[in-house]
Amino acid sequence: MPTHGSESYYVIGEGLLSESVGGRELGDDPPIVAAAARAGAGPAAAPPPFRFSRLGPKGANKQLGEPNRKKVGGAMAVGGGGQSQIPAGFTYLGQFIDHDLTFDKTSVMLGANVTPVQLLQGRSPSLDLDSLYGAGPADPASAKFYEADGIHLKVGKTTGPTKVGFDLPRGAGNTNAKKRKAIIPDPRNDENLAVAQHHCAMIRFHNRVVDTQLGGVPAAQKFAKAREIVTKHYQWMIRTDYLPRICAQGVVNDVFNNGRKAFEVGAATTDVPTMPIEFSVAAFRLGHAMVRARYNWNAVFDDGGGTLEFLFIFSALGGDLGGDTRLASIWIADFRRLYNFGEANKPGLTVPPAKFNRAMRIDTTIVDPLQHLPPAAIGLPANAGFNDPRRNLAFRNLTRAKMLKLATGQQMATFLKSKGVNLTKLTSAQIRNGKNGADLSGLTQAQRQALVKDTPLWFYVLREAELNNGKLKGVGARIVAETFHRAMQGSEHSIVNDASFKPTLGPNNSTFRMVDLLLFAFEGKKALLAPNG
Ligand code: HEM
Repeated sequence: MPTHGSESYYVIGEGLLSESVGGRELGDDPPIVAAAARAGAGPAAAPPPFRFSRLGPKGANKQLGEPNRKKVGGAMAVGGGGQSQIPAGFTYLGQFIDHDLTFDKTSVMLGANVTPVQLLQGRSPSLDLDSLYGAGPADPASAKFYEADGIHLKVGKTTGPTKVGFDLPRGAGNTNAKKRKAIIPDPRNDENLAVAQHHCAMIRFHNRVVDTQLGGVPAAQKFAKAREIVTKHYQWMIRTDYLPRICAQGVVNDVFNNGRKAFEVGAATTDVPTMPIEFSVAAFRLGHAMVRARYNWNAVFDDGGGTLEFLFIFSALGGDLGGDTRLASIWIADFRRLYNFGEANKPGLTVPPAKFNRAMRIDTTIVDPLQHLPPAAIGLPANAGFNDPRRNLAFRNLTRAKMLKLATGQQMATFLKSKGVNLTKLTSAQIRNGKNGADLSGLTQAQRQALVKDTPLWFYVLREAELNNGKLKGVGARIVAETFHRAMQGSEHSIVNDASFKPTLGPNNSTFRMVDLLLFAFEGKKALLAPNG
């Protein structure tokens, strides 16, 4: 089963660092499997998987021992921290973006058709929406994602009553499991209902662009043109709306206006990007802190009735759609509860504050259900105990970092400063005490000292945000902004490379937010944005 996180990391220059946090190999010193595979190593070598890189130094001899990681993981997973001002939809937009960034496009390309250059690009991070488009309608393996015209993306339909376009397109076959399987390039977008409904919204966005924006475009160019419009608007939204909500605005502006200082600096536009493990294994796992335990999902599952558990059950990868083969209409999202359409001056599309869902603050805490992840979702045997630490997402993140010998927060701060990045290191007291985040008093003094001296990068980045009212700054902000900048630069359609691009689907030529994307996709209609009323 494809999971949302990688089980092994092919790091350029180091090879395949491969172990499992689940099952067997959870000892303190798991083996590192040397890579046989290397990009360009010749036709005989196994092709490398997704291309990660190491941005900073190795954190050898700086990793916390297992008892300490268990304690820290436990301290982080008790909730707390409180809510942020960020609308909760951005949590799952972030997950959708993560899947776009880390999608291995070669998984949907026909082997024989893949040239070495495509192979490299297909296994590289980009913000090209290949998790939505696959390898395009002309590729035989991806044609199934498209309508017969080869231009529109297929939509799915819900049951009871049937509503077209509100579920992912799902398969046909003789078993329920086959019928329920989503026919989308990246099955991870069916891992929970919230990310799945975002994927549906993106399908709708593309199809609306096709229906309304292609007048005069020759038939043979319609798909390519639609994809370009969609991708550039999506990138604009990420750059101007998503990133400034999670990351200090000054850092985002500095990176996008003045360029990168640390990551693949000076890369030519033709160079194929990589994904820093410091982003993947630490900084961008910030999204885990934003997850709520329960949502005011819609008029039916109101007042916290949309629990995280239900969001998993009503997907086909994290659950089984409640035993059905299609989503029940009562589970269709109410996007007014996930995004604030008041920002776009649409008071008629807002809900009372008590119904609105805000993301949890980005800080060193995650909600309690995330310390008891469903065993099946992380490759553990079904009988793994409720309190098994391997089911704790915080412990998993810390352990994954240890396996990769990830640099500590302090190492990354020193590294980034050496590259000319202006940042202030956290003090020991700040790391120890934070601000209404994880309480470290349950650690022994020696454990606390080890954490404060060599702070795991994920924890460090979250402490930085916690001390900055829930927005990344310093080390975390720099890693995230630079990685996004590079992933946009490395995309076929790119607002970084095409500086003349201005959005045309929002209220003016400099504004295109997530609310604008949804308003366009759902035709500004309440009946589509919130069909359950
Ligand atoms: C209900 C929500 C979520 C759950 C249950 C979840 C769970 C997980 C799990 C189990 C892993 C693998 C852990 C490991 O063994 O290393 C993972 C990886 C990851 N998660 Fe999440 N996650 C959620 C939401 C998010 C969000 C909202 C973001 C970002 C905004 C995010 C970013 C990441 C990243 C960057 C990775 C590493 C990806 C890779 O390995 O390539 N996650 N998550």
